[in-house]
Amino acid sequence: MTDHAAVIAFCEAQAIGLVVIGPEAPLVDGLADSLRGAGLSVFGPSRGAARLEGSKGFTKDLCERAGIPTAAYVRVTNQADGLSALDGFGAPVVIKADGLAAGKGVTVAMTMAEAQEAVREIFSGRFGEAGAEAVIEEFLEGEEASFFALTDGSTIVPFGSAQDHKRLGEGDTGPNTGGMGAYSPAPVLTPALQGEAMARILTPTVRAMANEGSAYSGVLYAGLMLTREGPKLIEYNCRFGDPECQVLMMRLESDLVELLLACAQNRLGAIQPPRFAKDVALTVVMAANGYPETPEKGGRIDGIPAAQANGAKVFHAGTTLGIDGVLTANGGRVLNVTGTGRTVAEAQARAYEAVDAIDFPSGFCRRDIGWREVAREQD
Ligand code: AMP
Ligand code: GLY
Repeated sequence: MTDHAAVIAFCEAQAIGLVVIGPEAPLVDGLADSLRGAGLSVFGPSRGAARLEGSKGFTKDLCERAGIPTAAYVRVTNQADGLSALDGFGAPVVIKADGLAAGKGVTVAMTMAEAQEAVREIFSGRFGEAGAEAVIEEFLEGEEASFFALTDGSTIVPFGSAQDHKRLGEGDTGPNTGGMGAYSPAPVLTPALQGEAMARILTPTVRAMANEGSAYSGVLYAGLMLTREGPKLIEYNCRFGDPECQVLMMRLESDLVELLLACAQNRLGAIQPPRFAKDVALTVVMAANGYPETPEKGGRIDGIPAAQANGAKVFHAGTTLGIDGVLTANGGRVLNVTGTGRTVAEAQARAYEAVDAIDFPSGFCRRDIGWREVAREQD
């Protein structure tokens, strides 16, 4: 993906009509710019626009200029400034490496000692270039929810909500991961809160990016904190999340390609906005033993057809199919086992019924995906 010329040559040889760039690293690296320069239709932001995910300091400054609600912050470029900035906040406080750090650059410090340690770690070079700068910010209290929008740089349309479970362990404990499960929609993000997030956060962001010469086109994934003062931006991603994407796709009724092409060709305003089923989708990540540190590769997986027999869908995130027809694990997060239903409880029951049909002895999953919502539904 870092060899832009090779990607262009492949797309030309295969007469590719639409390129969707999934992960953040090639977007931040400017792959979309290179492909557009070669005349290809691309879904995904330019290098300049992908700074919304690639530089936390850039995004905080943009929020400040545009009056977008987010945590109070300071940007620092060395350890001494970082340590003295902590005093202005007190614990709890949040410390973030500025650049992409594969999900490991954020520390929510409950004590000053932890905060100081996080600042030292960032400036020790552990995150390479991502840690040449840091953002120190106010700790926000509330429930988190993810909100998605599609945009071609001028038109912006909501693209659904989700909540994920980032922690490895049940009850949302243990180390952070890429996500152990998710569901969509997120009922906490009510229509009124979605309207507020569009009006005060996402639309002003897209306007500001266009006005400043870095029009953002693609999917904008806003991580929101629902505080007592309303939704505040925690961070942006410039891609569909994983496994948030899987639950959004289960509910999408519109033609995805038509929407993505319209974004790529600056005509999102000319087509019907995305439509989603009212149903809930819930996905459970089956990971390889040892994930996230040292996932075991090569474990055999059986039972996928049985798992899908009752309408559940199994997305392959990290598998390989051998020439012998045997499916094996080939990554950390291996399968996304996804169910749908009228309620979160129903979608959860369907997802776990499918999980139980899968024989993956060297894998594991959390058994409580969606717990918060299931409890609320029972109230
Ligand atoms: P990230 O790895 O960038 O997705 O962020 C990690 C997590 O840190 C977020 O999902 C939040 O749970 C938490 N977080 C980030 N910023 C704040 C903040 N200002 N206040 C409270 N929690 C935060
Ligand atoms: N599941 C979180 C993300 O994709 O960033």
